[in-house]
Amino acid sequence: MANVIVGVTGGIAAYKAAELVSLLGKQGHAVRCIMTDAAQQFITPLTLQTLSGNPVYTSLFQIQESPEWQVEHIGLARWADCMLIVPATADFIGKVAHGFADDLLSTCVMAATAPVFFAPAMNDQMYANPLVQRNIAILRDAGYGFIDPVEGNLACGTSGKGKMASPQQIAAVLETLRKQDLQGMRIVVTAGPTREAVDPVRYITNHSSGKMGYAIARQAANRGADVVLVSGPSSQAVPANVTVVPVQSARDMFAAVQEQYSSADVVIKAAAVADYRPKTAAAQKIKKSDGDMVLELERNPDILAWLGEHKQNQILMGFAAETNDVQQNALGKLQRKHLDFIAANDVTQQHSGFGKDTNQITVYGADGSVTALPVLAKEDAADRLLDLVLQLYQARNK
Ligand code: C5P
Repeated sequence: MANVIVGVTGGIAAYKAAELVSLLGKQGHAVRCIMTDAAQQFITPLTLQTLSGNPVYTSLFQIQESPEWQVEHIGLARWADCMLIVPATADFIGKVAHGFADDLLSTCVMAATAPVFFAPAMNDQMYANPLVQRNIAILRDAGYGFIDPVEGNLACGTSGKGKMASPQQIAAVLETLRKQDLQGMRIVVTAGPTREAVDPVRYITNHSSGKMGYAIARQAANRGADVVLVSGPSSQAVPANVTVVPVQSARDMFAAVQEQYSSADVVIKAAAVADYRPKTAAAQKIKKSDGDMVLELERNPDILAWLGEHKQNQILMGFAAETNDVQQNALGKLQRKHLDFIAANDVTQQHSGFGKDTNQITVYGADGSVTALPVLAKEDAADRLLDLVLQLYQARNK
């Protein structure tokens, strides 16, 4: 069980920190809480002290009251196996992203060597603000983790993306921290759409955001795997400890995946690869004329089918994004492409598909197994897919 610091900053979602602290305690973790001044406007230290069974830290200059920590922020930071900032306000995110450390919580974050995760909670427009997003990207690049907010009703009376992840989702990061169960495995993940050039300024693509593939790459790396992410154009932040190979077209992706294949233990193909490309990409911008235009398309290579044909000992997982006859289509792909697993979802469903933060997947295995997962955050779905891959890997390498 872990030593967890829950850092509470000043947002209305602070009341959920109380539930988190209680949950972590029930799971057997030791919890110490740090509150900013603003956090104390929303809930009292007494609440968190009672739930954590430990004194609550509120000031850099508190040494007299709790002599056991000597220099408070260093002692606390050293004690922690993990820090969770719940909720993380736009202000606190911005502050840490720019290296400010002017209170106990921000100094502790600076001094921490353990993983730090932020659970943002704010108005949806604030969350979407490019400055906030840039600060989040800075922190992600520096190796900080995020438990992304979800869509929902917000305290300001609107609804949108900004509602803090649930205490259960936040507590789940501790599990991925503990597990380094993918250590020694080399996993190639593909993600995002491809772009097929029509001319130098135009292309054919699809709605894939890359979220599912990036979530798989992130979770696999968190669990100790050696991860290569071959990614089509995506605005997702690059996960820590993942080697990214950026590509544009299906043919670029094919070449990149082929290069990685012989050294891979597992290939997970979450990318939405364009099946067709323009037969010729014009060297110069195509000028419009009065009449209609016909664009001739030719087939792209089916990367996954090629991987299936040239499989040695690699475990292959494909994705089937379907709009109808999900099971039948998925099973067809599983067989045709010689896969070990196919992760199928109905992209017409409310909780699944392109650009969403959640997914509802059913995984069909070559051994006839069917694993129907509930609606899950893409990170959690990624973990469940990796669990299945790991089971097969262990069975094969006994
Ligand atoms: O046949 P379909 O495109 O639905 O199959 C989906 C699976 O095949 C995905 O895992 C996708 O990444 C992969 N695929 C591929 N190359 C293509 C088309 C799809 O690797 N040209």
